[in-house]
Amino acid sequence: MSEIDVVAVDGSASVQRPPAEVRYADELRRLAAADEGPRPPGWVLSLTAARRFIVGDQDAGISRKFVGDPSLIDRALVSLATSRGLMLVGEPGTAKSLLSELLAAAVSGVSTLTIQGGAATTEDQIRYSWNYALLVAEGPSTRSLVRAPLLRGMAEGRTVRFEEITRCPLEVQDSLLSPLSDRVLAIPELTGPDAMVFARDGFNVIATANTRDRGVNEMSAALKRRFNFETVFPIPDLQTELALVEAEAGALLRRSGVTAPPRRDVLEVLVTTFRELRTGRTARGDAMDRLTAVMSTAEAVSVAHAVGLRGWFLRGEAGTAADLVSCLAGTAAKDSPEDLAKLRRYLEQQVSWRPGDQWRALHAARHQLPG
Ligand SMILES: Nc1ncnc2c1ncn2[C@@H]1O[C@H](COP(=O)(O)OP(=O)(O)OP(=O)(O)O)[C@@H](O)[C@H]1O
Ligand SMILES: [Mg+2]
Repeated sequence: MSEIDVVAVDGSASVQRPPAEVRYADELRRLAAADEGPRPPGWVLSLTAARRFIVGDQDAGISRKFVGDPSLIDRALVSLATSRGLMLVGEPGTAKSLLSELLAAAVSGVSTLTIQGGAATTEDQIRYSWNYALLVAEGPSTRSLVRAPLLRGMAEGRTVRFEEITRCPLEVQDSLLSPLSDRVLAIPELTGPDAMVFARDGFNVIATANTRDRGVNEMSAALKRRFNFETVFPIPDLQTELALVEAEAGALLRRSGVTAPPRRDVLEVLVTTFRELRTGRTARGDAMDRLTAVMSTAEAVSVAHAVGLRGWFLRGEAGTAADLVSCLAGTAAKDSPEDLAKLRRYLEQQVSWRPGDQWRALHAARHQLPG
């Protein structure tokens, strides 16, 4: 057996991204132990403790996990305590999924009751299906029933996450209607009390939808009415976004075995570039072409990760703005060849006038752009 097989078989390779309740198990434990606030029925934390888990509390050693307006978190938590679901909408890469994961972990202690929406999502994947061997042998029973996240969330009184809900066919989306309004799910194949699953306290749904895909305006009015909508906006200021990218990319690089932390001056160039290509305006106020590709904070984090990997594994150092050029192409030139031309123009025209070694390195490396 090769070495690779051994790693795969004995399970010693570590999990790439454990769920929030595992990543922050210690913080959740400490928050619960010190939590004296009133808890909505079925919640594992009070509203104020759940909020601190997400926005952070330096004195108590709780890290800030979501950067943004704390009043958004309050509104989201209040929504979850009502009988309406929570719908997080916004541009791609604005941390809607992350926020939904953190909310579920804070409210229910579990963020893994998740339905991934897509064109091929079926009602079975949302509600329930059957173990066919048992179904044939014993007929429909609670033993042959395979519970999908919605049914489990209702029966256990937990938060269910529905990612990218608008990418599902409309009739599939509508299977949420009676669980959300009547708080009950019928299983007509079973008889007696098992044929109705009534939602327990603590059950609710957090859905996410991004504004670039099939829109929320295509959702049925009936379903829309059962959600409170909250928009998640991109991070407004450079310094906050820079700090987030530095922290997130630093953590990713450590996990990838890179011991050199990302350079601050390189990240400054990277985040500035992303913000300008995203908004179509330079730091000194000039209008320029914005890209059609998504230039979100999430993308900035993954490009910063790639820059660090290039520097480290190719040359044994932290990575420079020259590495940024090669890494940018794969992110920025996804949607259209025009984006590549716009990026080239940006590197030609908007980089050389800025002071600093890293801006100079970026300009000098512009010819490395493919194509
Ligand atoms: N405001 C923010 N707070 C914390 N992290 C953020 C923020 N904005 C972006 N990020 C970064 O983006 C990553 C999360 O992106 P996520 O996948 O949750 O975005 P999304 O809005 O769900 O995107 P999509 O619409 O493509 O599904 C985080 O891991 C973090 O690195
Ligand atoms: Mg998402």
